[in-house]
Amino acid sequence: MTKIDLRSFSPEVFRVFSQQPPLLTAGDRRELNTMTIGWCQLGEVWHMPICTVFVRPERYTYSFMESHDYFTVSVFDPSWKAMINDCGRRSGRDVDKVKAHNLTVCYGEGDAPYFAQAEWALVCKKMYFTDLNPSRMLDERLKGFYQTDGLHRIYMGEVRELYQKDN
Ligand SMILES: Cc1cc2nc3c(=O)[nH]c(=O)nc-3n(C[C@H](O)[C@H](O)[C@H](O)COP(=O)(O)O)c2cc1C
Repeated sequence: MTKIDLRSFSPEVFRVFSQQPPLLTAGDRRELNTMTIGWCQLGEVWHMPICTVFVRPERYTYSFMESHDYFTVSVFDPSWKAMINDCGRRSGRDVDKVKAHNLTVCYGEGDAPYFAQAEWALVCKKMYFTDLNPSRMLDERLKGFYQTDGLHRIYMGEVRELYQKDN
């Protein structure tokens, strides 16, 4: 992976995040966990490039998001679909997903783990979090997402590094 200038990067975010759900990873050189996410936003807030992710409290990844200052978002090409589906179905409580899929871990700023096989990966430093509040949902369709599991915690991270796969 090569570190590249974020300001020269222009992913088609609506296509990528709907068709290539990334892996959200948190941890360090000692321990980490990863899971598939469908919800991810990129943009400018507080004069910073910000990546926002949504994590339900039931996820094992949630505890890693809470205990670490950094998280990463790794986007894979569509040929990794089976791995992405599996990482979105099985929990790190039951299986080591990194080993199961022979993923190679790289470390960015803050020892934040991401994956060498990704097309590109963002290393983000947590800036802010908040929890979704049902009383502020302005459209009934939103409530449909919360019949069983808990409300997502929203994490906003400053994008500190961008790595792209060497061709
Ligand atoms: C395509 C897809 C997108 C997903 N997006 C999210 C998401 O944005 N937030 C979330 O909390 N869970 C999401 N999930 C569910 C988690 O990936 C899944 O529950 C996973 O097994 C959690 O793993 P963990 O317990 O090791 O953290 C998604 C699953 C799939 C298949």
